[in-house]
Amino acid sequence: MENFKERLKAIEEETAHLNIANTVRHLCARFPEKVCFSTSFGKEDQALSHIIFNERLPVKTFTLDTGRLFQETYDVMDETRERYGKQIDIYFPDQDKVEAMVNKKGPNSFYRSVENRKECCHIRKVEPLQRALKGNIIWITGLMGDQSEFRKQLPTFEYDANFKVIKYNPLINWQRDYLENFIEEHQIPVNKLHEKGFVSIGCKPCTRAIKPGEDYRAGRWWWEESKKECGLHLTRTNNS
Ligand code: ADX
Ligand code: SF4
Repeated sequence: MENFKERLKAIEEETAHLNIANTVRHLCARFPEKVCFSTSFGKEDQALSHIIFNERLPVKTFTLDTGRLFQETYDVMDETRERYGKQIDIYFPDQDKVEAMVNKKGPNSFYRSVENRKECCHIRKVEPLQRALKGNIIWITGLMGDQSEFRKQLPTFEYDANFKVIKYNPLINWQRDYLENFIEEHQIPVNKLHEKGFVSIGCKPCTRAIKPGEDYRAGRWWWEESKKECGLHLTRTNNS
């Protein structure tokens, strides 16, 4: 941890005046083959993919296919592969664990209790993420501050004690309008669900569209009272 704290401080200083592409370039030079980026193909991630692929930055880009995604997400995944012609690694959950869970509890266990929901998220997302992050030092995410009160407090760089990596959240201070304009300007492919009122998009059974005025993450696990995180991003308070 001490080692990470020092690294974190040094990185913050070295990149303070760099834009996103140059920051990533710097990180890749400093930690060769140890910089990765996770994409769920939402607008935020698409903007980052555009920067990473266009600038030919040597970042391992990966996605977690939970097996329960929307067809529209697979469509934008395909479009992105075609548009940029770059490798996007796909991580699947452990087959034995999924089989055991579904055989014991059925395909919709997550609706019945928070405990079941967390179990499903753990098997389908968290454990594959652990595998994907293994050996990396920097994890680039598409987190934005306007997504939740919790995310508003997140810094650009942070040590993630759960996954033991330094998280780089380049968009954390971006404004929503800026993101929309960036996507428009560069004609970046986006998930068609965004046109239908979906903003934060995860698994199909656990995501709905939101109404005007609702919170950004209101459509995720909407039947639960307050839990709006699945275990991928729990740094800081660990219980947001
Ligand atoms: S989640 O924790 O609620 O699922 P969210 O959908 O807001 O996360 O996405 C935040 C960031 O987490 C994304 O920008 C991306 O970096 C990462 N992420 C979320 N879901 C996935 C996924 N299925 N595959 C890869 N990365 C993901
Ligand atoms: Fe399972 Fe829903 Fe979590 Fe996806 S979001 S892993 S379907 S509980």
